[in-house]
Amino acid sequence: MAKNVMQVFSGSANPDLAKRVCSYLGIDLGRAEFSRFPDGEIDVKVHDDVRGCDVFLIQPTAPPVNEHLMELLVLIDCVRRASAERITAVIPYFGYARQDRKAEGRVPITAKLVANLITTAGADRVLAVDLHAPQIQGFFDIPVDHLHAAKVLLSHFKKLDIPNLVVVSPDVGGIKMARAYAKRLGAELAIVDKRRSGPKDVEAVHVIGDVDGRNAILVDDMISTGTSVTEAARTLRERGARKVYLCATHAVLCADALEKIRRASPDATVVTDSIPLGAKAESGLFTVRSIDTLIGEAIRRIHRSESVSVLFN
Ligand code: R5P
Repeated sequence: MAKNVMQVFSGSANPDLAKRVCSYLGIDLGRAEFSRFPDGEIDVKVHDDVRGCDVFLIQPTAPPVNEHLMELLVLIDCVRRASAERITAVIPYFGYARQDRKAEGRVPITAKLVANLITTAGADRVLAVDLHAPQIQGFFDIPVDHLHAAKVLLSHFKKLDIPNLVVVSPDVGGIKMARAYAKRLGAELAIVDKRRSGPKDVEAVHVIGDVDGRNAILVDDMISTGTSVTEAARTLRERGARKVYLCATHAVLCADALEKIRRASPDATVVTDSIPLGAKAESGLFTVRSIDTLIGEAIRRIHRSESVSVLFN
């Protein structure tokens, strides 16, 4: 590293998280200004010298996804042209991830497209949290450190010490994540057999595993429209589950997610701050656990070329 100086900048998607990360690191958040040209094009001006620096750009590609993604790309380009020595795109929530394969003919693989865009813009590394599918790491031809928010979310549930617990995945794709939670909570595992007939239409069909009379934690990587978790919660209650908790890393919360969660009336909904909740936090529906320390420690280790894998567990 030419100067061995770390600089952290934030896009406009989650500056509060970026500030908390900087406070953990004991540094000031870098000064960057975002504006729009009259036609809506994004303009960025970085006010700190980054020449020869180890630069970390924090930006979840959360809704509005296209705006935040483009802003990240412009920011990467900006610091690359300002001669940053190394650029790490810190993406606490990686959007466009669900199209990670051709599930049918004539559809894109947007997760790969976005990985290409980030790399082409000039990122040297990526730091991500709970990617929709771990194999998305391989869509990048640059190093990816893939963190898990499990430790942060699990600490909340460990404190509750919930008896007779079962951890439930709302779909087959989430089994690995749910199994990891179940193992660390010493709980049983169950799976909801979810059928998706469109981006918003989901039907929970069967439950594999014993939930009758048990307290359940539904674990998912994200709550987007809220259909998956609330449908699964409804099915669990029909099958005799007592308390039902929702737990997800990324609170995307689009469309009528809030209303669905309110109607489902879970015993708690625990999420991280990978995406800011903004006014939605005032609904009183969410318990938010911060991933500031997780990201801060990963940045510190990447900068010092220390192992990051200790944070993966
Ligand atoms: C699906 O594969 C994901 O893990 C989530 O279950 C899903 O994307 C959540 O979306 P929604 O909240 O719209 O059901």
